[in-house]
Amino acid sequence: GVEKKILVIPGDGIGQEVTSWGLKVLKTIAANYHHSFTFEEGIMGHVAIEATGDPLPEETLQKAKNSDAILFGAIGHAKYDNDPTLKVRPEQGLLKIRKELGLYANLRPIKLFDELLEASSIKPEILRGSDILFFRELTGDVYFGEKKRTEDRNTASDLMIYHRYEVERIARKAYEAARTRRKKLCSVDKANVLEASRLWREVIQEVAKEYPDVETEHMFIDNAAMQLIKDPKRFDVVVTGNLFGDILTDEASQIAGSMGMLASASVGDKVGFYEPIHGSAHDIAGKGIANPLASILSAALMLDISFGLKTESQRVIKAVEATLRQGYRTMDIANKHTENDFIMGTDAMGAKVLENLN
Ligand code: IPM
Ligand code: MN
Repeated sequence: GVEKKILVIPGDGIGQEVTSWGLKVLKTIAANYHHSFTFEEGIMGHVAIEATGDPLPEETLQKAKNSDAILFGAIGHAKYDNDPTLKVRPEQGLLKIRKELGLYANLRPIKLFDELLEASSIKPEILRGSDILFFRELTGDVYFGEKKRTEDRNTASDLMIYHRYEVERIARKAYEAARTRRKKLCSVDKANVLEASRLWREVIQEVAKEYPDVETEHMFIDNAAMQLIKDPKRFDVVVTGNLFGDILTDEASQIAGSMGMLASASVGDKVGFYEPIHGSAHDIAGKGIANPLASILSAALMLDISFGLKTESQRVIKAVEATLRQGYRTMDIANKHTENDFIMGTDAMGAKVLENLN
């Protein structure tokens, strides 16, 4: 077996509830396949601000740097959303850890489990067979460009900025992935308006020459947002910048039935960071009804991408599939057309997956 150090950061809101299930799945896999995983816990986000005044305490960052992989839950709190004047914000913790760990590539696989065809509000015949892998650039763009506010507070700006090397490295990762899939890559930008997008497109065109076996397509973000819903099957690998990727993948979550189903992997220099793409969902936090599957599938991604444990990763995905096939559902993925599902809360759902894992 392998030996790995895993840092668990549940974070805020439903992050606490769902991450405990990703963790239990990792423990079960370690036991069943004779691996030795050791776990540490760290705080980040609103909970860290409450405890230390800092959304990413130095101690958490050091633990993160010393781990092989990180399982993260969610970040954010209603208090900050309703008060944009607050200077210290939970999200700063997440952005800082992405930057500090060099997590420049955020992989968001959008794959619909057949069992959930009816859970989406999109027609099943449009959805069936959809399988998209997003590469969202994660440490550049308007997220990290200079922010300004005039003294009179009446004017504000965020700089959208990309450097050639940032586009090159994410492009290569996306092309390498496309090679192992259906060999189609769609790059999304707004090059008809934005200079940063024109650099983006130029660099993609250059990198494309190294991958003549992959078919490259360029699409503007507005069109991509439309095509995604109109005909999701036309996409294989999609590569795009930080902000466009943030928006497009929330939209794409509807192709997978629910945000509650989607896992993501952030990789780059060394450690991998695994998290659901959903947020802290304060409206349902503490109620025990959040879907634990995105956290469980994040754990599966960790096993595969950071540890190279493909069999174990597939085992987890199969257990999720089996659970869905048995008709078990959390609220967010309940069938909209029939009443045959067994609708349950976070813990009951997580427990079903564990049963199917054993
Ligand atoms: C995400 C989230 C974050 C982002 C927020 C919480 C800062 O929406 O991971 O998609 O915008 O990147
Ligand atoms: Mn987002």
